[in-house]
Amino acid sequence: MNPTVAHVVGARPNFMKAAPVIRALDARAIGQRLIHTGQHYDARMSQVFFEDLGLPRPEVDLGVGSGSHAGQTAALMVALEATFLPSPPDLAMVYGDVNSTLAASLVAAKMGVPTAHVEAGLRSFDESMPEEVNRRVSDLLSDLLFVTSPEGVTNLADMGVAPDRIHFVGNPMIDSVVANLERFDPVRMRATLELPERYAVATIHRPSNVDDPDTAARIATMLARVAEALPLVVPLHPRGRPRLEAAGLTSGDGLRLIEPLGYLDFLSLVRGAALVVTDSGGIQEETTFLGVPCLTVRDNTERPITISHGTNRLVTPESAPDAVADALRRPRASGRMTPPLWDGHAGERIAAVVAAWLTR
Ligand code: UD1
Repeated sequence: MNPTVAHVVGARPNFMKAAPVIRALDARAIGQRLIHTGQHYDARMSQVFFEDLGLPRPEVDLGVGSGSHAGQTAALMVALEATFLPSPPDLAMVYGDVNSTLAASLVAAKMGVPTAHVEAGLRSFDESMPEEVNRRVSDLLSDLLFVTSPEGVTNLADMGVAPDRIHFVGNPMIDSVVANLERFDPVRMRATLELPERYAVATIHRPSNVDDPDTAARIATMLARVAEALPLVVPLHPRGRPRLEAAGLTSGDGLRLIEPLGYLDFLSLVRGAALVVTDSGGIQEETTFLGVPCLTVRDNTERPITISHGTNRLVTPESAPDAVADALRRPRASGRMTPPLWDGHAGERIAAVVAAWLTR
């Protein structure tokens, strides 16, 4: 019987990583199932990504939704176990570091289903980040570990992962950027949002930046100060919006709060931006590839290659406005070095490893 690979996705940053892998496995006629956990459920956080990325309709949406970490993870595990039980897949593929990733890794491991982790080996070494816990556990439980940048190989070796499980394949999130580059249209987005030629984009949603009211107030002040330098558009994740608004963040004086954008609209906006201020993981990588200056409002990054090879810089809410002025003064770097294997073909490399593994 044709072996089956089950992809488990659930949150916004999973979708652009899974799309190229699904396409490449499809080209090899490998049987696939797509399971949506429903961790993200708003159309703007999920459905629009399926449409923009041409993802197939999932066989099931488990509709798990939001909750505390324990509550959400437990609900994800119960629902995933029930989905796998009637006919366990030959391989479960999990993506990134969200709670759906962690839950799928645990369920698969307990059922004896081998797991492949796409985007393995990233480390912020900051245990207070929920994502760091998720990454460590998923890496520990995976049989195939697909790594996006060389330091991931070192991080996995340091935790004792057998070398034959580690595959440095490049970055499938960048595959999605390469595949859609022609569709990222800054002119259209500028017209839609009535923006001038020169503008900045900011996204902020991490618990460490929005949960504490004092920190949220520092972030609100930072965004207002950045908007004094140039018009600033802020697509807001639903998680952060109430907290940032309570901390005084509001549209006006060059600052525009908008709803979350779909994949094509967001990357169109980023491609045309003079700079980006963010606390996202994926946006650090997308700006690295697109050559857009990026200021990351965090104490650390699990993606140091975006600093060594890209335009990324870590900032605090207080240092960000000066860093913005500095970034705007510098000429755009030309002839950038793209990180190794960020070439649009990671999905194919992953599919080749999976195909060989399935017939081992
Ligand atoms: C999750 C990931 C994070 C990732 C982010 C990208 C975990 C632990 N975190 O964070 O790594 O950067 O996704 O978006 O998995 N909500 C909605 N609509 C939705 C989804 C969420 O309104 O469609 C709101 C709810 O109030 C919910 C909150 O956002 O409680 C948090 O959602 P959750 O899935 O727990 O984590 P994110 O903050 O989205």
